[in-house]
Amino acid sequence: MKEIKAEQLKQNVFDAIGKQWTLVAASADGKTNAMTASWGGMGVIWNKNVVFLFIRPQRYTKTFIDKSSTLSLSFFVEEYRDMLTYMGKVSGRDEDKIAKANLTLTAGYDAPVFKEAELTFVCKKLYSSVLTPDGFYDKKIIPQCYPDNDYHEVYVAEIEKILVNND
Ligand SMILES: Cc1cc2nc3c(=O)[nH]c(=O)nc-3n(C[C@H](O)[C@H](O)[C@H](O)COP(=O)(O)O)c2cc1C
Repeated sequence: MKEIKAEQLKQNVFDAIGKQWTLVAASADGKTNAMTASWGGMGVIWNKNVVFLFIRPQRYTKTFIDKSSTLSLSFFVEEYRDMLTYMGKVSGRDEDKIAKANLTLTAGYDAPVFKEAELTFVCKKLYSSVLTPDGFYDKKIIPQCYPDNDYHEVYVAEIEKILVNND
């Protein structure tokens, strides 16, 4: 693993999150859980480089994110697409997803780092807030995306470390 600066990133954010997808992971009480995410962003606020994540309340990973001060985003090469599909379909409440997906945690970081990831952001939570229906200007989004009223919680997390896998 080699550390790089945010300015050295070659990824296009729309491709990396929207198309490649990311694995969001957090640890709490000696356990780690992770889930696939394709909604979110990267940017700058409060003079910090950050990621934005949108997590629905029913995600098991959310309980880990809420208990931890840190989280990670991992990006994988295309060969891991099936793994990301699995991590985005099954809940860690029902299966030990990380073991079943053959992912290997690397010790020594503030948030989960997987040996198999080509790129990892180790992040520190800065802010979170639940989206509310009155905040939407385009009200069509509500029935399209929230028929069950399970509004996402948005998390803003500072990118503390960017690791690239040079294996
Ligand atoms: C491609 C893809 C993208 C997803 N993006 C998100 C997302 O941005 N936010 C979210 O809350 N759930 C998202 N999900 C759903 C979760 O990954 C899924 O519900 C997962 O099984 C939750 O696992 P957990 O209960 O172990 O946390 C996505 C799923 C897939 C397949």
